[in-house]
Amino acid sequence: MTHQAFILSDTDTQRVEVVLAEGMRHYEEAYRAFLEQYPQFKETLALDTLREQEYNRLDQTRQIYLDYTGGGLYAKSQLKQHTEMLLKGVYGNPHSSNPTSLASTMLDDEARQYVLSFFNADPEEYMVIFTPNASGALRLVGESYPFEDNGQYLLTFDNHNSVNGIREFAYHKNAPVIYTPVVPPDMRIDADALLANLDKAIPNGNNLFAYPAQSNFSGVQHSLEWVEIAQAKGWDVILDSAAFAPTNRLDLSVVKADFIPLSFYKIFGYPTGIGALIARRSTVEKLRRPWFAGGTITVASVQGNAHFMAEDFAAFEDGTVDYLNLPAVKIGLEHIQKANIEVIHERVTMLTDYLLKQLTSLKHDNGSTLIKVYGPVTTEARGGTIAFNFYDPDNIIFDFQIIEGLASAANISLRTGCFCNPGAGELALNITKVEIDACFADKDRMTFEQFAIAMTSTGNNQEVGAVRISVGIATNFKDVYTFVQFARSFLNVKSQGLLFSADSA
Ligand SMILES: Cc1ncc(COP(=O)(O)O)c(C=O)c1O
Repeated sequence: MTHQAFILSDTDTQRVEVVLAEGMRHYEEAYRAFLEQYPQFKETLALDTLREQEYNRLDQTRQIYLDYTGGGLYAKSQLKQHTEMLLKGVYGNPHSSNPTSLASTMLDDEARQYVLSFFNADPEEYMVIFTPNASGALRLVGESYPFEDNGQYLLTFDNHNSVNGIREFAYHKNAPVIYTPVVPPDMRIDADALLANLDKAIPNGNNLFAYPAQSNFSGVQHSLEWVEIAQAKGWDVILDSAAFAPTNRLDLSVVKADFIPLSFYKIFGYPTGIGALIARRSTVEKLRRPWFAGGTITVASVQGNAHFMAEDFAAFEDGTVDYLNLPAVKIGLEHIQKANIEVIHERVTMLTDYLLKQLTSLKHDNGSTLIKVYGPVTTEARGGTIAFNFYDPDNIIFDFQIIEGLASAANISLRTGCFCNPGAGELALNITKVEIDACFADKDRMTFEQFAIAMTSTGNNQEVGAVRISVGIATNFKDVYTFVQFARSFLNVKSQGLLFSADSA
């Protein structure tokens, strides 16, 4: 998605700077009050030390990083360990049995075993298929699932586009696709509607159900109990854990989903380009790969026009795996293990609670609310991702791109748009099917900017996206405090009704 550069006025950037500077004068006092309000935060102070030791580039470069749902950050020691491994050894393509090939195979196998043990997945029951990212894992399921055989695809509105995209595989095989809504303002699953849809499982059919353990839009954590409920009604379940796994314990001995897609960079930052599909062996048996590639077969013949698929994960890993980087997956998971995912979770929960309380309490002098959060405003069954928009004293929305521009000028990294989760966005922002249909009608292509302009041209105070902040392993109190000060800089400021700045026309 492209974004145009915004021309920010000096007045606006200076206003933000002044409010941030003023906020910093009260920082110590605010931290003391925070510790009083969240006494258990002290139990997570090891993560402040970790930040100093491993993530001090954040402070050296004065970055306020609030996009952990976009991508996690790597620790220094991960890079050192990985580089040392590469410098010391000689590693060849794992598709052979020469010594350098075996050296790679051994490290890659270790990484595979470690992924299973990290998620407490029994190797008899689950396999790990390495993929380029969570999207690659989802595509593997989508393209191989036997939709053509009495199949159907059920999913929640609240899904990443890489989960939505599986519907195209279903359509191509003439399988029905059913969506179940989530309900604003909390953006939780409509339980009755989901149960009714789950009851539509085709007996002895191929019923595939997908939902996120945590929404990358609203941060809602949908109940993991849906996995067992759906399976009992005859569904195979994709539990999209890409946004959940970085700050929550996922125990696959308890939650036995059939397919779990993940991206490792979201959990520990480095390396990018590796994800996994953790897949239940018994369900994998029904997958039918639409092609074969190097590494996925035992034998293929040109004259015989035949091939035999490899066993196990190998049948799904096309070509040469990223064998030099796979060992870094184990290093990254060991880092998270040492930092302790429960401690990360606790800290993220407290910082999120603080953010929610502070942001939702900001009022203009006329009493109107500055920030409208899309999703739960308490930390019950929600993670550290918060989506919202800013409103001025006249309840006119601020263009999220202006917010992003001003945040960037203050070295705050956040995300704006619909975060590749259009269903949650449409429901949260109250965008109707009629409006969407009008936008898509008679067009072959459209950029996001054109879409946004078309949606806002109705002049109905409509936005097509939101601002998203998310916290993670290296977030400290100062980061969230700074963001609250940034938000305060919009108090009593008119958005001037400008939904898009002049240069975006
Ligand atoms: C919930 C969820 N699912 C899937 C994905 C896709 O991950 P990737 O872009 O790494 O393939 C994301 C990425 O943000 C996500 O948040």
